[in-house]
Amino acid sequence: MKAGEKFVLGSIGAILLFSVVRSELHVKQEHERDIPYYSTASREVAEKANEIYRVNGCKECHSLWTMKDMMETVPAPILDGIGSLRTETWLYDYLSSGNPQSMLPSRLKKEYKMPSYASLPESDRRVLSEYLASLKVKDWYLEQTRKAEYEKLTGQEYKK
Ligand code: HEC
Repeated sequence: MKAGEKFVLGSIGAILLFSVVRSELHVKQEHERDIPYYSTASREVAEKANEIYRVNGCKECHSLWTMKDMMETVPAPILDGIGSLRTETWLYDYLSSGNPQSMLPSRLKKEYKMPSYASLPESDRRVLSEYLASLKVKDWYLEQTRKAEYEKLTGQEYKK
């Protein structure tokens, strides 16, 4: 092979390699940027629910709309994607229960346990449960969400 031919072949090889690496990187970045959580709620429901959520201090214990640190120190389950784990009826009954631990046992001290919201107006409990049920997770992150919830609730490692 002449030096000129070597150079041409070498250049083609380098260009091919470069484009393969670049497309792989691109796919990886796309996936990392893809946030798995979304809501199907209307703007009106979301706004009302966010206000009720704020006034009642839900965020003192729960996190929502954050991708950071699934295992952070807040002892309560993360609510992102909760609508893919629970139905609206279940959520409404849970918020309406005088004793939420009868529906979902707690492993925590009294001050960290889910309080009863049975005394909230019914319309607030309806809006909240509708909104919570609208918080979905994409399929590729469902198992991870289940695992995080299980580990928060039980303090034990999740096995399929
Ligand atoms: C004092 C802390 C605290 C506050 C405030 C709180 N929660 Fe909770 N919540 C918990 C804990 C802890 C659990 C897990 C069950 C338990 O340990 O009682 C829980 C469980 C839940 C669950 C069930 C999660 C699952 O995995 O199925 C939902 C839904 C929920 N809370 C919604 C709310 C909403 C909505 C509010 C505000 C109206 C709220 N929580 C306020 C601590 C809290």
